[in-house]
Amino acid sequence: MRLQEKVAIITGAASGMGKSEAMRFAKEGAKVVVADLNIDGAEAVVQEIKDNGGQGLAVKVNVTDNADLENMVKTTIDTFGQIDIVVNNAGIFDKYTNSLETTEEQWDLIFNINLKAVYKITNLVLPGMIERGNGTIVNIASIAGLVAQMGGAAYTASKHGVIGYTKHIAAVYASKGIKINAIAPGTIKTPLTEEMLKTRPTNKIPLDRFGNDYEVAELAVFLASDESKFMNGAVVPIDGGYTIV
Ligand SMILES: NC(=O)c1ccc[n+]([C@@H]2O[C@H](COP(=O)([O-])OP(=O)(O)OC[C@H]3O[C@@H](n4cnc5c(N)ncnc54)[C@H](O)[C@@H]3O)[C@@H](O)[C@H]2O)c1
Repeated sequence: MRLQEKVAIITGAASGMGKSEAMRFAKEGAKVVVADLNIDGAEAVVQEIKDNGGQGLAVKVNVTDNADLENMVKTTIDTFGQIDIVVNNAGIFDKYTNSLETTEEQWDLIFNINLKAVYKITNLVLPGMIERGNGTIVNIASIAGLVAQMGGAAYTASKHGVIGYTKHIAAVYASKGIKINAIAPGTIKTPLTEEMLKTRPTNKIPLDRFGNDYEVAELAVFLASDESKFMNGAVVPIDGGYTIV
């Protein structure tokens, strides 16, 4: 198994890609902390993990809340002893809202969840990882972090921020044994996009289809595992070729 005995926190793991990542990580032997605002959903995912013979723990967390984040990290260490992997997956979308229509409140909410929480969680787990000389972080960005018009103003800016932050951290902490990479998914079928995709064409995507959550989960396993040991600060698009044309 590719993540045998690794302890992984996955935020936003009650739904969509996060859920798929949690199930896939557990199948590869990881002890998975399913961290989400939606505790019922998180508990259901953990039940599914256990039904499949894996190990998991549901933790209620609002990633914008410092006390919740501290509790998430403490509960993980109290339960599983250490933190090897973090997947910063929790995120919200702004439904393509342009700058003039984006209120300051909406901007702050998107930034607090999509970007600031990534910085806060990283700062909470990095000291332990550095002490052990080992740790992996996978940030779920978006192709909206690479090109324009795959989101609104705040979403696009926040995901560009996630990519910039990933590169910064990767450059600074690689020598301490920390490996940090980002995934930039294109349009993926999840509860977040379900409604929107009913009317969205696929013809601008060379593969002429949307992606599936389990395809992103597969990439997350690779980036979390030792197979990607020489990758650091990489931003990997998984978008059916959308960003090459
Ligand atoms: N679906 C896509 O097409 C797509 C494309 C590119 C990037 N992404 C990114 O992938 C990630 C996952 O997206 P998804 O499509 O699976 O979404 P989703 O809505 O299915 O799942 C997101 C999860 O995050 C949780 N969450 C939201 N706010 C939270 C908070 N404040 N604290 C804790 N948990 C919170 C939700 O409860 C939910 O379980 C997001 O970061 C999103 O921006 C999605």
